[in-house]
Amino acid sequence: MADIFAVGIVGAGTMGAGVAEVAARAGHDVVLCSRSRASAKTAVASIAAGLDRQVSKGRLSADERDSIVSRITSTDSIAGLAECDLVIESVVEDLATKLALFAELDATVKPSAILATNTSTLPVVELAMATGRPERVCGIHFFNPAPVMRVVEIVQPITADASTIDRALAFAERCGKEPITVADHAGFVVNALLFPYLNNAVKMVERGTATVESIDAAMCGGCGFPMGPLALLDLIGLDTSVAILDTLHSEFGDTNYVPATTLRRMVSAGRLGRKTGSGFHQY
Ligand SMILES: NC(=O)c1ccc[n+]([C@@H]2O[C@H](COP(=O)([O-])OP(=O)(O)OC[C@H]3O[C@@H](n4cnc5c(N)ncnc54)[C@H](O)[C@@H]3O)[C@@H](O)[C@H]2O)c1
Repeated sequence: MADIFAVGIVGAGTMGAGVAEVAARAGHDVVLCSRSRASAKTAVASIAAGLDRQVSKGRLSADERDSIVSRITSTDSIAGLAECDLVIESVVEDLATKLALFAELDATVKPSAILATNTSTLPVVELAMATGRPERVCGIHFFNPAPVMRVVEIVQPITADASTIDRALAFAERCGKEPITVADHAGFVVNALLFPYLNNAVKMVERGTATVESIDAAMCGGCGFPMGPLALLDLIGLDTSVAILDTLHSEFGDTNYVPATTLRRMVSAGRLGRKTGSGFHQY
C-alpha cells in the first residue's frame, strides 16, 4: 500500500484551511490551492495566527508551530498539486463546480494519487466518474472545525477499490482522527441525521416558539449539546447548509429536508453566518 506523504488541498475556505492545518500537524507536506494567490496566502496566514494562539496558551511549542507552518505552501494553480499523493477537494458545495475540478485534477495530478472530496452530501461516484481513475476516488469528510472534531467519514463509492479506502483510513488515523467508513448515500451518517434537526430549529424561529438565543440555550442546557442549532448553522455556513438540504431532499424526497424559507432568504441577503460576520447571530 503506497504511503501518503504530500497532500494537496483545493479550496481555502473554512474547511480547506482547517484540513490543511490537520494534515500539516500530522507531518505531511501540504500544498493549499485556491483560485487566487492572495486568498491562499490569507488562509495560510490565518492558520499561522491560530497556531500562535495555541502557543500563547501553552498548548503548542514555538518550534512545533514553526515546523507546521513550514510544511504548508500555497498556490493558485492546480499544476502545483501534480506530485501530491492525495488531493482533498474542499471547494463550494456545488456539483458542477466539483465535476469540472475533478476532471482537471485527473488530468494534472499523478495517476497513482488518490483524489478525495470533502463534500457534505454530493454523490462521490459522480466525481469518480468524471476522472479516468474512479477506483482511486473517495470521500474524506472532515467536520468543522477540522482541527478539533474527532470523526472523519471515509465515503466509499461503489467505484472505489479496497486499497483506496485503506489508504484513506490510514491517512485519517495518522491525522489523529477516528475514521468511520460509510456508503455513498447523501449526507452519509452525520449530516443525514443532523440536518432535519437544524432545519426544524429554523422553522421554530419562523413560528415564534422562542427566540434564536432561547432555542440555542435550550438545546445546550437541556440536551448537553456544546452549541445550539442556530449557532451551529452559522458555523457551518448558511449557503453550505441550503446546498446540503437541497441534496438530501432530492435524494430522499423527505420534506423534512426542504430548506426553511428563512434560510434561503438569509443566503440571498448574504447573511451566511460566521464567515460573513452575520447570520442568526452577529460576529
Ligand atoms: N462548513 C462546514 O461546516 C463543512 C463541514 C464539512 C464539509 N464541508 C464541505 O467542505 C466544502 C467547502 O465548504 P466550506 O465550508 O469550506 O465553504 P467556504 O464557503 O468557506 O469555502 C469555499 C471555497 O470554495 C472556493 N470556490 C468557490 N467557488 C469555486 C469555484 N468555482 N472553483 C474553485 N473554488 C471555488 C471559494 O473561493 C472558497 O475558498 C463543501 O463541499 C462543504 O460541503 C463543509
